[in-house]
Amino acid sequence: MASWTVTLLVGAAVAVVVTNLAAVTDAELQYGYYDRVGCFGVENRVRTLVRRSFIADVTASAAMLRLAFHDCQVGPGGCDGSIMIEGNGGEMSSGNNFGVKRLDIINSVKADMEKMCPTTVSCADIIAMAGRDAVAFNGGPDIKIPLGRKDAVSSSATEADAKLPPATSSIDRVFNVFGAFGMTHEESVAILGAHTIGVGHCKSIQDRLQSNSPTAPNSLVFRTQLTAACAVNVFNIAVLTNDATQFTFDNQYFKDIQNGRGLFTVDNLLSIDPRTAPIVNTYAANKGAFFAAFQSAYVKLTSRALKGNQGSVRSTCLH
Ligand code: HEM
Repeated sequence: MASWTVTLLVGAAVAVVVTNLAAVTDAELQYGYYDRVGCFGVENRVRTLVRRSFIADVTASAAMLRLAFHDCQVGPGGCDGSIMIEGNGGEMSSGNNFGVKRLDIINSVKADMEKMCPTTVSCADIIAMAGRDAVAFNGGPDIKIPLGRKDAVSSSATEADAKLPPATSSIDRVFNVFGAFGMTHEESVAILGAHTIGVGHCKSIQDRLQSNSPTAPNSLVFRTQLTAACAVNVFNIAVLTNDATQFTFDNQYFKDIQNGRGLFTVDNLLSIDPRTAPIVNTYAANKGAFFAAFQSAYVKLTSRALKGNQGSVRSTCLH
C-alpha cells in the first residue's frame, strides 16, 4: 500500500515537471523547436520542398521572402499566418499586397507537414522558414531562426492598408517600421537589402516616371530606361528588376542605389539620407557586413509572433 502511494506521488511529480517543461518550451520561440516537441526533420523537409518550388518557378523565392515580411508586419501577432486567411476583408485584399503571390507553396508544404505531424507545424513558421530558405537558395546567408510560432484566426485588409509601408515611404517611416521589431538603423538598412532579389511592377514606381516629380531618378539614363520599360504595360504585367542581379542574394542592391539606380523611391532615399547613406556605403563595400546585419535583422523581423497559448496551429493555411 505504502509503495503504491510513493509510486503515485512520484508519477504526479513527473507529470507536473513534464507539464511545466511543455509550458516553458511553448512560451518562447526556440531553436530546434520541432525536434523538442517530437516532430523530427521539419526544417530539412521544408527546405527540400520549397527549394523544389524555387527551381520550378524562378520568381517564387523572391515572392516567399516578401511574403514573410508582409505576414510579420500585419496581423494580431506579427508572424502569425494571418496573410493566408483570404477572402473579402482579409489582408490579401489590401492594395498594399499587390504582387504578393505563390501562397499555394506554403499551403502545399503545410499539407505535407500535416502528414508528418498533424496540427503541429504552424503556417506562420512555414512562412518564416520559406523566406529564410529563399535567402540561402539565392546565395545569401543560411540563417538560423527560432521556431514555435502560432497562427492567428483573423486577418484584416484595413490593418494591411495602414501597416504595410508604400514604395514611397520616407526613411523616418522605415525606422519606425523596423524599429518596432527592435532593429538598429544598421539592421533596418540591411533588411531593405532583401530588394537584392526579385522585381517590382510599374505601378510601384509611378511616382518616379514624370520628369518633374520630386522622386524622379536623378539619372536621365535610368529614368529613360524605367519609362521605356513601363511604356507598354498591358494588364499591369511589366516588371523591373529590383537590382542588376535579381536572382542572386548579394550586395549589388547597395552598389546600385549608391549609383542612383534604386528602383523604388524608398531605395533611392536610403542612399541619400545622411542617416542611412554611410551604412549603404559600408554594405556596398563589404558583403560580409551586409550578410551579418541581414541575419540578425531577419531573426528580429520574424520573432514578433504569437507564442504558447496566444494562438493555435491551423490544420490548413489558405482559408
Ligand atoms: C519600407 C519597407 C519596404 C517597402 C516600402 C517595400 C516595397 C516593396 C515594393 C513596392 C515592392 C514591389 C511590389 C510590386 O510592384 O510587385 C517590393 C518587392 C519586394 N520586397 Fe519589399 N519593401 C520593403 C521592405 C521589404 C522587406 C523587409 C523585405 C523582406 C525581408 C522585402 C522583400 C521584397 C522582395 C523580395 C520583393 C520582390 C518580390 C517579388 O519579386 O515577387 N521588402 N517591396
